Amino acid sequence: MRLSVCASVLLFVVGQTTLASAEFAPHRSVLRATERLHEYAKRRSAGLARDLRVVFQGLKEQDSVQGDSNRVYCVRPDDPFSAFNGSSTSPATASPGASGTSQAAVPTFTSAYSVVEKHSGSNFFDGWDFWDHNVEGGDPTNGNVDYQNQADATSSGLIDVNSAGNAVMRLETTATVSGNRKSVRITTQSTFSTGIFVLDAVHMPEGCGTWPAFWTNGPRWPVTGEIDILEGVHDYTNNQATLHTDVGCTIPSGSTPQSLNIASTSVNGDVCAANLTGNAGCGFRSNSNTTFGSGFNSIGGGVYAMLWDNDGIHVYFFPRGSIPADLLAEKPQPNTWGTAMAFWPASTCNPSQFFVNHSVIFDLTLCGDWAGAVWGASGIPGQTQSCQAITGVSTCTQYIQQNGAAFQNAYWEVSSVTIYQTSRQS
Ligand SMILES: *[C@@H]1O[C@H](CO)[C@@H](O)[C@H](O)[C@H]1NC(C)=O
Ligand SMILES: *[C@@H]1O[C@H](CO)[C@@H](O)[C@H](O)[C@H]1NC(C)=O
Ligand SMILES: *[C@@H]1O[C@H](CO)[C@@H](O)[C@H](O)[C@H]1NC(C)=O
Ligand SMILES: *[C@@H]1O[C@H](CO)[C@@H](O)[C@H](O)[C@H]1NC(C)=O
Repeated sequence: MRLSVCASVLLFVVGQTTLASAEFAPHRSVLRATERLHEYAKRRSAGLARDLRVVFQGLKEQDSVQGDSNRVYCVRPDDPFSAFNGSSTSPATASPGASGTSQAAVPTFTSAYSVVEKHSGSNFFDGWDFWDHNVEGGDPTNGNVDYQNQADATSSGLIDVNSAGNAVMRLETTATVSGNRKSVRITTQSTFSTGIFVLDAVHMPEGCGTWPAFWTNGPRWPVTGEIDILEGVHDYTNNQATLHTDVGCTIPSGSTPQSLNIASTSVNGDVCAANLTGNAGCGFRSNSNTTFGSGFNSIGGGVYAMLWDNDGIHVYFFPRGSIPADLLAEKPQPNTWGTAMAFWPASTCNPSQFFVNHSVIFDLTLCGDWAGAVWGASGIPGQTQSCQAITGVSTCTQYIQQNGAAFQNAYWEVSSVTIYQTSRQS
């Protein structure tokens, strides 16, 4: 979750901290650091979709479970669907199947949506801003990472496009570091209001200490909202999707997975307002153990699609091998996609009111406000034992500093990020 802070929220948290187990004690220094960052962010807040995250996910988990001018087309040359003209009004035709080899049956799809921005292949990294720790400071979620600018990330081998044409974002794996590990956090230069935001990834970061996320966020957090599409920590295998909003957005009271037609359960309650939930927001945890981390990687990943329209916010997950043909053809027909992973209906959370001008963001941090806080916790799917028990190391920071080889699998491998709209709305 990506959170900002205010003084009253900080006070709230310190109060909560005293009630929680000793493992949250380090939050006091974390909070001071966050306050400094907040001051820093306020000084240079103009136009920044920068958020300061104070994550109370750890506390929450403890409670519930023991323990157009901006178009960027970066189409991969070998993409079987790259001939598609995003501004064309005629139906595209395409063969289904990820391999793109079968030319036999060629269904035709029509869609109200067209591609407004796509990142893939050798130009994947065009159109993103890189968080630079030398300029913008440390990770706003207090993780043990130094985010590298594009030049440094490239020269130190943190980012590249591999022989499969997929973009890779990895963590520094130097055996021992005395401070933080190098990582990357990237934000689209374009912003979007409404649309379909599609991530096709074959691998995502996994393992003790890690906290990766793929999400969207507007300026002046939380007034213009935050939509966490893919997020979790450590060895979790089940994705958690979360909204953080201004006051007034909720999940309809009394709703159930059946009434919402979702394959997940609510984990933080019905209130999405950041400042009424200790910043936790309103999240859903997937029922499927192939939606995050090693579970996701075990099936070659898949596609996340976040649909933001007049009906509300949906997050869909399609495992590799079960990706709808309309989506593969870049002619999305979301009304045919069936059960979502998560859904926040417009009836109690007006999407055009609570979400405005979102950028798309990837990040990979270590420890920090969430992963650090639940280092000693277990009970979440994938995490039958705590990372503390698994590693035998008492703190997350100590572990990540001394075990570079453990982060060989802490990388994103992304085929594409594609944003669709019915008409361009920034
Ligand atoms: C794509 O569509 C635009 C607008 O209709 C048109 O000007 C352009 O020539 C098309 N490009 C291709 C490659 O078909
Ligand atoms: C939360 O924000 C709203 C307006 O954005 C404000 O009126 C309210 O007082 C805030 N509540 C808390 C607990 O800070
Ligand atoms: C997911 O759960 C099933 C059934 O409980 C289990 O057999 C499988 O090993 C789990 N897979 C992962 C990746 O955790
Ligand atoms: C959203 O972006 C539009 C176009 O750049 C701008 O006019 C508007 O003020 C922005 N709204 C917010 C709430 O930032």
